[in-house]
Amino acid sequence: MTRSSDRAFLLLLLIAAAAVLATADSGLPVMEEDLDGIESVVGGGLGKKQREFDYFALSLQWPGTMCNGIKKCCTKNGCCRGADTPQVFTIHGLWTDYNDGSWPECCDGPSFDPNEVAPLQSALDRYWPSYSCSKTSNCHGGKGTFWGHEWEKHGTCANPVIHDEYNYFLITLNLYFNYNVTKVLNEEGYVPSNSERYPLGGIIAAIENAFHLTPAVECTKDSIKEIHLCFYKDFKPRDCVLQTNKMVTSSASCPEYVSLPEIESLENGNDVLESLELDAAL
Ligand SMILES: *[C@@H]1O[C@H](CO)[C@@H](O)[C@H](O)[C@H]1NC(C)=O
Repeated sequence: MTRSSDRAFLLLLLIAAAAVLATADSGLPVMEEDLDGIESVVGGGLGKKQREFDYFALSLQWPGTMCNGIKKCCTKNGCCRGADTPQVFTIHGLWTDYNDGSWPECCDGPSFDPNEVAPLQSALDRYWPSYSCSKTSNCHGGKGTFWGHEWEKHGTCANPVIHDEYNYFLITLNLYFNYNVTKVLNEEGYVPSNSERYPLGGIIAAIENAFHLTPAVECTKDSIKEIHLCFYKDFKPRDCVLQTNKMVTSSASCPEYVSLPEIESLENGNDVLESLELDAAL
């Protein structure tokens, strides 16, 4: 996309999201954790009646950590775009959580339909990439795209605030554009580095000051892997709930000093066979 079409696209997103937000009722608070393909025992589970969620968590991934140690490349893998590999936090998903640290999942709703989000496809490719070549499990026993997994597992539980797949992705993109964690961290001197270690408290404080919410931070060893931003049901910022039974509390998951690894731009050169297989499967 060119810069001006980018800007026009963003504007459209903002207008559409504002229209949706205007109809959303206000509500309560946020926070959670998700491991792709690993079903949680805390959530309600398929088929059970699950009560309405309490708050949203926008979970963001750091490509420098996600792409560390990647051995296989394919066209769908965000790590394998050479010069186009993302250099910013990207979207993992918009999750619906309960205040007690658990969450509903796989609620009633239609299966993922790629046609519904076709108008958002270039934004999804760019800002919401998968960092794996494998397909991701969905709620109905099958496997599919990362987007399908996020919609079916989390998006379907966003009623009565978000009613459909298109708006789930639109609203998530809109939040992501409005809460630019990469920008906030860069401005405070927390820039990607393979040698620096930064105080976790400083990183959390930078986000608190910028967005008026306390995030949850998740690490792999001492590398920041995810940052979660939490929102009430009316999308006003709120603190994330720190879960005691999961590794998402900033104190439990991350050490006192953390790193923001540089992003390696892998080339998708040698794995033609695998990407062909994946494209056929998708
Ligand atoms: C967020 O900020 C970074 C660093 O300033 C910038 O490169 C990126 O384009 C911004 N992302 C969005 C979605 O505005």
